[in-house]
Amino acid sequence: MQNALAKSKVDEIVLVPGGGQPYRTPIATAQQQREMIDLAIRDLPDVRVAQEHLFKPGQNAVDTVRAIMREHSGAEFTYIIGADKLAGLLHWPKAGRLFELCDLLIYPRAGYNTQELTLFAIARGVRAQMLAVQPVNMSSSLVRTQIGLLSDAGDMILPQVARYIARQGLYHPPYEQLIRPHMTPRRYAHTLGVRDLAVELAWHHHLPLQKAAVAALLHDVAKCMKLSQLQAVAHQYHLSDDQQVLGSNALLHGKAGAVLAAVKYHIRDEDVLNAIRYHTTGRAHMSPLELCIFVADAAEAGRSDYPGLADIRRLMWVDLAQAALISMQGTRAYVASAGQSYSQDTDAAIRYLERAVKDLSA
Ligand SMILES: [Fe+2]
Ligand SMILES: [Fe+2]
Repeated sequence: MQNALAKSKVDEIVLVPGGGQPYRTPIATAQQQREMIDLAIRDLPDVRVAQEHLFKPGQNAVDTVRAIMREHSGAEFTYIIGADKLAGLLHWPKAGRLFELCDLLIYPRAGYNTQELTLFAIARGVRAQMLAVQPVNMSSSLVRTQIGLLSDAGDMILPQVARYIARQGLYHPPYEQLIRPHMTPRRYAHTLGVRDLAVELAWHHHLPLQKAAVAALLHDVAKCMKLSQLQAVAHQYHLSDDQQVLGSNALLHGKAGAVLAAVKYHIRDEDVLNAIRYHTTGRAHMSPLELCIFVADAAEAGRSDYPGLADIRRLMWVDLAQAALISMQGTRAYVASAGQSYSQDTDAAIRYLERAVKDLSA
């Protein structure tokens, strides 16, 4: 878009959102598409979206162009299209009517001989020009694929769009629907709260947004299982020999949750699995994503107040390690006052974070 404007081929660009592909689930709704486009073009004054009444789902390009032309009588129109879509357009029975209405500006796509396609269009009588820019290897389906692989597709979409996708859960399996039957309503509400805060913390600290969202959604996936069920998972997957761990839902559900995330929800990303595995206990050498999920779990908006929560909520925007450390120290004090012993992983995490925070402030 910016290329077309910068090369002065057009004065203004009007975007027409696509209809999506109905066989893909989940797909973005028309409103979600619109909101993503608004985020993507908010700093581009000469780019805007066609008004909603001008196009309907499934409406063909000729009718849409005519509707837009009626709103802008006197303007000249150029239809901008990627080289990958040109061959299909040329074979479309109504294409002749579209070419009568407007010129064609073709932008190169990697893997397509744009020059040859443009010459072919011109030979068919189309007023076509090629945009003289480097071919881009980019498409909406490639973005969706990358998002599904837990990438933020940073070379194709803007960070604010990736953040929106993470918050909305677009182009991921429908984890919200999948986990809901296995949780109490309260646990489910907590999970959504953790997801929302984890994405905002990840955004603030420049961490992977999709990974934060998915790790948060799955972090308590085993929390509502009975202890005997958790122990069966622990036994089957050799999760621990420690009787203290095996006898505690609090200590076991993260480890079992990581197993479920891998086996049932097909998560392969080790950082995401570790964020689920250690979200309650922590451990030495926690990654930034692990810290993000740990803190989001401790401080999501639905948490009832507890000693130290205000400090965690203040520090989490400054330094996740400090926020996690305060949370762990508070829990350790609480557990000690109840006369219980504390997880070895958490002792190691506290020692590690104390060193890390001291090194940082030295
Ligand atoms: Fe948990
Ligand atoms: Fe939780």
